[in-house]
Amino acid sequence: MNRPNGKPPENPTENPQQRVQIETQGDHSDDRPHAIVTGGAGFLGSHIVDALLDDGYRVTSLDNFSSGRPENHAHIETARFESVRHDVTESFPDFDRVDQIYSFASHASPIDFRANAIDIALTNSVGTNHALQTARTHDATIVLASTSEVYGEPEIHPQREEYRGRVNPRGVRAPYDESKRLAEALVSAYHRQHDVDARTVRIFNTYGPRMRRNDGRVIPNFVDQALSGEDLTVYGDGSQTRSFCYVSDLVSGIRALAEAPRERAAGAVVNLGSREEVTIWELAETILAALDTRAGISYQELPEDDPSRRRPDLTRAETMLDWTPSIDLETGIRYTVDSFRQQDELRQVPSGDV
Ligand SMILES: NC(=O)c1ccc[n+]([C@@H]2O[C@H](COP(=O)([O-])OP(=O)(O)OC[C@H]3O[C@@H](n4cnc5c(N)ncnc54)[C@H](O)[C@@H]3O)[C@@H](O)[C@H]2O)c1
Repeated sequence: MNRPNGKPPENPTENPQQRVQIETQGDHSDDRPHAIVTGGAGFLGSHIVDALLDDGYRVTSLDNFSSGRPENHAHIETARFESVRHDVTESFPDFDRVDQIYSFASHASPIDFRANAIDIALTNSVGTNHALQTARTHDATIVLASTSEVYGEPEIHPQREEYRGRVNPRGVRAPYDESKRLAEALVSAYHRQHDVDARTVRIFNTYGPRMRRNDGRVIPNFVDQALSGEDLTVYGDGSQTRSFCYVSDLVSGIRALAEAPRERAAGAVVNLGSREEVTIWELAETILAALDTRAGISYQELPEDDPSRRRPDLTRAETMLDWTPSIDLETGIRYTVDSFRQQDELRQVPSGDV
C-alpha cells in the first residue's frame, strides 16, 4: 500500500435515501469480515483503517469531516475500503454485514472543547448509542475510544482502570470528559442488558503523522511552532506531566483488544498509552533538540482544569493483551517531525507537477 498524502477523491456521489454521501465506493462483493470505523478520516481513525486493511478486512469509514481530512485516505488503493460522509448523531446507514465497529468519532483537541462543546457532547453520547445499536443488530464487536480525561484531575498516580476519576462536571472540559464517561456507561449498559460484545480503550495522549498542524494539541503545536522558527508556547510553568504514546504502538494495542477472545475481553476497559512520563517543559526541550532550532520557549497562563499529572498503569494491557509500547519519545518525535516536513514539501510542489 502506497502511504504518502495525496489528492482528495473527486466527484463524490449523493445517496439521499440513506442521508449519506459516498466519498469513495468500496467493493462489497467478497466475503471478508467488515469493520466500520467512525471518525475514520481523523488522526487515529485513519491509522486504524490502514491496520484493518493490512489485516484483510473490508472497511467503511463514517466521518463528517469536521476535523478529519479526505487526504488521510488518499494513499488507499484497495476496493475493500469505502469512505462515507456521515454524522454519527444520525442513525447509521444499513449494512448487510458488520463484524467490528471502532467508535472513534469525536473532536479531541482542547481548543475544540469550547468552540464545539455541544457537538462533542452529542457525538459521544448519541453517536455512541447509534454505534452500539448497529453492533447489537449485527452481533459485532465494538471498541469505544474513551480517554484518560475520564480520570479528570487524578488523586492517584499512575491511573489504574479501577480509579473512578475526579472530573469537574461543569468545567470547560466537561462536554468532552463527561460525554466520554456517559459513552462508557452506555457501553456497559449494552453489554449487561443486551450482551453486546463491547470493549473500551482509555487512550492517553497519542501523537504522530496525520495530526493537523493547527490541531491545537501540544505536540503538533510545538512542532509547528519550531518548524516556523517561533518560540514554543508552554501553558503554566511547564511542570505538568503527560505520557505520550506513538500512534503505531496505540493502534497495535487497539487491534489486540478488538481481536482478543470474547470470553476474555467482552465488557473490558483497558488503558493504553506510554509509561514514559515527561513534563511539558521536557517535551519542549526534546522537540527543540530534534529540530536543532534556535527557537525558545514562551509562557502563557494555564487553561482551566488542565490536569497536572497523567500516566497510565498498563498492567492490564500487558497481562490481558500481551501489549507494551515500544517507541520512545525521541524516536516518535523524529518520525512526526519528518512527516510534518514531508507535508510541507508536498504543499510546496506546484499542482501541475504532482
Ligand atoms: N489522540 C489522542 O491522544 C486521544 C486521546 C484520548 C482519546 N482519543 C479519542 O480518539 C478518537 C479519535 O481522536 P483523534 O485524535 O483521531 O481526533 P481527530 O479529530 O483527528 O479525529 C476525530 C474524527 O471524528 C470525526 N467526527 C467528529 N464528530 C463527528 C460526528 N458527529 N460524526 C462523524 N464524524 C465525526 C472528525 O471529522 C475526525 O475525522 C476520539 O474519540 C478521541 O476522543 C484520542
